Amino acid sequence: RRQLQTSLIELNTRAMHFYREQLKRHPRAIDYLKRRGLSGQIAARFGLGYAPDGWHPLADCFSDYASNPQLGEVGLVIDNADSGRRYDRFRDRVLFPILDGKGQVIGFGGRIIDQGEPKYLNSPETPLFQKGLELYGLPQARAAIRARNRVLVVEGYMDVVALAQLGVEYAVATLGTACTPEHVKKLMRLADQVVFSFDGDRAGRKAAWRALENSLALASDGKTLSFLFLPAEHDPDSYIREFGREAFEALIDNEALGLVAFLCRELAAQVDLSTEEGKAKLLFLAKPLVEQIRAPALGVLLRKKLAEMAGLNAAEVSQLLGGTS
Ligand code: UTP
Ligand code: MN
Ligand code: MN
Ligand code: MN
Ligand code: MN
Repeated sequence: RRQLQTSLIELNTRAMHFYREQLKRHPRAIDYLKRRGLSGQIAARFGLGYAPDGWHPLADCFSDYASNPQLGEVGLVIDNADSGRRYDRFRDRVLFPILDGKGQVIGFGGRIIDQGEPKYLNSPETPLFQKGLELYGLPQARAAIRARNRVLVVEGYMDVVALAQLGVEYAVATLGTACTPEHVKKLMRLADQVVFSFDGDRAGRKAAWRALENSLALASDGKTLSFLFLPAEHDPDSYIREFGREAFEALIDNEALGLVAFLCRELAAQVDLSTEEGKAKLLFLAKPLVEQIRAPALGVLLRKKLAEMAGLNAAEVSQLLGGTS
């Protein structure tokens, strides 16, 4: 199994070098990256490449293109079951190599140039690449995460690269999936401060709530988990381009909501706290969430906040939600 993984990584590594060479030869792709504000230096730092148009450009890179089954397993090619034909998965896309924590190439994300569907195409789940475990940009971010004792979690490849370009080098991305408990565990091992900043749209706000749900059981009194909500039309990339690094980092410092504050705000938005029924519903909704928290002080503080919102004293809330306060 280890040997298989090694050879799959070798195929991906070879493809990454091929795609990087192709980027140099395709001004259209270079122009696209420039229009997104990226320098050649940052493109090199993240190993960005270009998959040329056509059915099998990768045949120039692999002499056994037609016969090597591992090219299919690693997701670089697609085998059409009906025709028996094989063709490249990534065609006419800017490619973001996805590295694991050790810096090995485990997959790719490919963005269409300008408009088209799907906007991003990713490697499939393979023995190497499990989306719920990996954090895009981690090897490049690791030193800055350690230095700042802070990790910023964003949604997109482009967010990570653009933030790094503008000097926020401690960002990583989940890969088009919700933030899983495994992601949260990994993040909390990396730094004492974990800041989630998803897109300001509906999908991003939903992703933030999923991240909160998956964090409750893992939260620790010695760490902070916080949630930064950007204006609706922005993601971290567009925000930092428009307003700059200082403004973005000021948002992290001043506007990010802690786990307790975010949880209470979301629940409050779902009920009418001016009525007894609304207060009851608040506690009803809170109960299954509160029960997951294992960090003792955080649990007490959350119960206290809920008590205030419901107009009850701490003893009454403890009776309802369990725990001592
Ligand atoms: P977004 O749609 O927010 O993309 O998806 P983005 O990163 O801001 O892209 P740009 O700025 O238009 O280039 C966030 C992430 O969700 C995944 C990708 O990982 C993307 O970076 N995604 C999105 C997909 O996997 N497929 C898609 O079609 C769209
Ligand atoms: Mn070409
Ligand atoms: Mn989005
Ligand atoms: Mn974007
Ligand atoms: Mn986005």
